Amino acid sequence: MESTMNTKGMLADFVEDLPKVELHLHIEGTLEPELLIALAQRNGVDIPYKTIEAARAAYQFEDLQSFLNVYYLGASVLREERDFYELTLAYMSRCKAQQIRHTELFFDPQTHLANGVALAAVMGGINAALRDAERDWHISSALILCFERDRDPEPSVAHACALGGIAGIGLDSAELGNPPEKFQEVFKVAKSMGLHRVAHAGEEGPPAYIWRALDVLDVERIDHGVRCLEDPALVRRLVDDRIALTVCPFSNVALKVFSRLSEHNLGRLLKAGLLATINSDDPAYFGGYLSENIIGTLSSLDLTAKDALLLERNAVEAAFCTDQRKQSLLRDLDQYDASHRNLL
Ligand code: ADE
Ligand code: ZN
Repeated sequence: MESTMNTKGMLADFVEDLPKVELHLHIEGTLEPELLIALAQRNGVDIPYKTIEAARAAYQFEDLQSFLNVYYLGASVLREERDFYELTLAYMSRCKAQQIRHTELFFDPQTHLANGVALAAVMGGINAALRDAERDWHISSALILCFERDRDPEPSVAHACALGGIAGIGLDSAELGNPPEKFQEVFKVAKSMGLHRVAHAGEEGPPAYIWRALDVLDVERIDHGVRCLEDPALVRRLVDDRIALTVCPFSNVALKVFSRLSEHNLGRLLKAGLLATINSDDPAYFGGYLSENIIGTLSSLDLTAKDALLLERNAVEAAFCTDQRKQSLLRDLDQYDASHRNLL
């Protein structure tokens, strides 16, 4: 049976139907070229691509910064509350199709503010779509407001945290040269408000940035974190404290953190006992949503269906939802596990 399960088609079927949780997803990174072009026209925003094909052709990246330039340009077509609603509902319908039962989404308010869009429109549109997806498809979610680390922590954004409608704060954008310290105060205030805290660290930046995200920002999860393996003491800390890593394999290859999927260190992260999870980051730009990331990574690294179950149980453990919701998600996974025992 083992050899049958390891054939690519069987593994893909197993992963497609597996109940899943996503913890690292930028909603602006789900903007598919079709919607990008349509919104640019509808909102009269001038972008360098006039066709879907031209947009897709521009999605070739050298590193994180070259991607961010394209990503922020894409985000500039989002202007009205309904744009954010349509974008978010499109992603949530992907979740429905991919058996994603719980998802945690980042958004970048400073980018939208700089484009003259009110935060109420951004959050109103996103949260309305999340509510509709919960009501119609029973997909639970949490919204995480990201500070862009290459900008100053804007007070109006910090105040937005107090308005409600978000579960936590994060830190994203250009990592190199922008260590976590600048955000110590906003993360401290967020903690005092009972908000969750995460930060991108150790994607392109060194292990020292992961240490400082933990020690200075007091984060509960590390986004990416793949460079932790360069520092054995850091690995011990992450393992001992069960700090999850929200790893994004397709993103890491597209941004040249690893030269190819078969070189990715996800297998080594799991072997080290780290609470690793798989996520899609910016799926419209990196060639696949969550199922494609899991299937591609497992098959490139000779990992198995059992590893897929472990990754999903890790994601449930690290999710920012109630214990009751976690129990329900774990029950779904146990059931799926039991009904596929003959294949595992
Ligand atoms: N914003 C969107 N995707 C990102 C990534 N992979 N790293 C940092 N900031 C981001
Ligand atoms: Zn990210």
